[in-house]
Amino acid sequence: AADAHCVCLDDFEKYAEKHLSLMTWIYYCSGADGETTLKENRRSFRRIRLKPRVLRDVSTRDLKTTILGREIDIPICISPTAFQGLAHPDAEAGTSRASGTFNTCMILSSVSSLSLEDICCAHSGGTKWMDIYVWPNPRVTKDMVQRAEQAGCKGIVVSVDICQVGFKRRMAYVAGDIVPRNAIIANFDKYCKNGIMNETTFLDEVKCGDPSATWADIDWIKSITKLPIILKGIMTVEDALIAVEHKVNAIMVSNHGGRQLDGVPATIDVLAEISKAVGDKIEVYMDGGVRTGTDVLKALALGARAVFIGRPVIYGLAYKGEEGVKNVLQILKDELSLAMALSGCRTIKDINESIVMEKNLYCR
Ligand code: FNR
Repeated sequence: AADAHCVCLDDFEKYAEKHLSLMTWIYYCSGADGETTLKENRRSFRRIRLKPRVLRDVSTRDLKTTILGREIDIPICISPTAFQGLAHPDAEAGTSRASGTFNTCMILSSVSSLSLEDICCAHSGGTKWMDIYVWPNPRVTKDMVQRAEQAGCKGIVVSVDICQVGFKRRMAYVAGDIVPRNAIIANFDKYCKNGIMNETTFLDEVKCGDPSATWADIDWIKSITKLPIILKGIMTVEDALIAVEHKVNAIMVSNHGGRQLDGVPATIDVLAEISKAVGDKIEVYMDGGVRTGTDVLKALALGARAVFIGRPVIYGLAYKGEEGVKNVLQILKDELSLAMALSGCRTIKDINESIVMEKNLYCR
């Protein structure tokens, strides 16, 4: 799909490390505190063993599925990551075009280099969901939801694992700060200009949610939009069940790519228990450490309806902008298709826990 330099997703990461400025690279790659969870996300995938079935006519494979009723061509979607303009001038518009071309879902970060309107306009294909936090100022939250609706987004993702920003030691060493200060945050320009936010302090207000937020805020967000609500950052059965009670439409098992509370398990290690607990009441997605087609296969087998990728998209952008993101998606798609053939799965529905070794199903 790509070229001899980028054969698998890890190659894009190596390219990015070599070619991005030190501060940008560290901002993207780092995790919170001692980075235990960051490493665990990827390591845990490697511990899972597969049980392939044979002689099942896998001559054609169908990778299509649906999320919240909308068809996507691959069960591999894009997580929101901030400041994509630091990786490549194509920025989020390049990611939008790549995800549209692959007819998959892209979640727009609110802390984006381009405005959500420009990102949605860049490509009409695929499905766009808007990521928001419960910001301290409800006027900002409400306006962002309404703008997302108007721009054609089909879902509101509320990131609930960032009531404060996790501390990134490596960022502190190179930049003395934990978020890049030089980045443009297009979505909030408007609120600075019309006085809803203060131009000098807004960055501290928008980079995380309100620490006083509760489930009542989720009810409130539901009341201000007709769009489905997806909660991103659920890591326990307990919270998953509360999410069901609050009638959200879906949850994403996520630990923010190991950037928030260090010491939580890998997402793949809690996925099965969470997806079993919620059953078919709401859809369950996951992200964190997905880097190969077999990772996708394992996550789907353990109960994810679709997986999302964060850093690999940024590294694809760093490699070749929009083309690089397409390369990343194509490689993962090809790898998943091959893994399905070799494990005896012709369609996404055929992928279930029977292809994962029993001892991997719970609490490894
Ligand atoms: C993120 N993530 C994130 N999540 C979110 O809800 N809103 C955001 O704005 C961001 N921004 C962001 C920036 C950067 C640089 C990274 C690396 C991550 C978390 C992201 O959506 C996702 O959960 C993880 O990146 C998934 O893990 P992998 O695929 O990067 O291992």
